[in-house]
Amino acid sequence: MSFRNISKEALAGSVTLGFIFVAGYFLMKRKPFRMISKSHCGGKNNPLMQYVLRHSMREHPALAKLRETTLAHNGNRMMVACEQSQFMANLVRLIKSKKAIEIGVYTGYNTLNMALALPEDGVVVACDIDENFVNVGKPFWKEAGVEKKIDLRIQPALNTLDDLLAAGDAETFDFVFIDADKVNYDSYYEKSLKLIRKGGIIAIDNVLWGGRVLQPAADDLDTVAIDKLNKKLHRDARINLSMLTVGDGLTLAVKL
Ligand SMILES: C[S@@+](CC[C@H](N)C(=O)[O-])C[C@H]1O[C@@H](n2cnc3c(N)ncnc32)[C@H](O)[C@@H]1O
Ligand SMILES: *[C@@H]1O[C@H](CO)[C@@H](O)[C@H](O)[C@H]1NC(C)=O
Repeated sequence: MSFRNISKEALAGSVTLGFIFVAGYFLMKRKPFRMISKSHCGGKNNPLMQYVLRHSMREHPALAKLRETTLAHNGNRMMVACEQSQFMANLVRLIKSKKAIEIGVYTGYNTLNMALALPEDGVVVACDIDENFVNVGKPFWKEAGVEKKIDLRIQPALNTLDDLLAAGDAETFDFVFIDADKVNYDSYYEKSLKLIRKGGIIAIDNVLWGGRVLQPAADDLDTVAIDKLNKKLHRDARINLSMLTVGDGLTLAVKL
């Protein structure tokens, strides 16, 4: 193959790539978060997401029922994406977690998934302020036979984290999922970092916040708080870091 041939092929390749980039740019401009979609295990209107779910979901029957009940009763977007929850359950097992914390339980889909992933003597401290939401999920925790692993604390999550620290539980937790009110995200992160051991994981949900992090309006306190924490974590030497585009954006911080 002559040098000239290679450059011709390279040129054709570049033109094609260029076209794909330009086309991609306009597609993305029209719908900035086309590829990111929260599934709720249906992947509505997104064939690729449907493929992902069909080829990977292994939902415990109690989880499936809890999800269906949540979506039927409340039908909103607060629930964690099921493929994201399954991924975190795999992480929980992978690092051999015994103690986990869920900050923001809602109807308890992810809490149940963590409880299922933890060993018999494991525990997930479940923090929420609204017991009405949690009551929707409780029967399914029982049905799955893991309710004894769930330590539910109904009060502001900051108080629960302080209680754990005061009880001498610093550096004893393996996994924390932060998924409650956004303005407290930084405090949740700092307290969680104290509570987990080295090699433990803090998973933070909604770090892309439907794309609003690209242009945080000064009076949009939720977006400002998320964007500020994203920027802080990027230069935080206390952790190893990943930001994933699953669900509404998931950051993983591994304590060094
Ligand atoms: C996005 S939902 C959590 C979804 C849940 N992780 C799941 O698996 O579906 C947020 C939850 O945070 C709770 N929340 C809001 N402010 C809180 C606070 N200060 N302390 C504890 N929970 C709070 C809300 O009541 C709500 O249930
Ligand atoms: C953090 O990342 C570095 C590489 O950048 C690696 O050497 C180290 O083992 C990681 N630490 C943990 C706890 O994963």
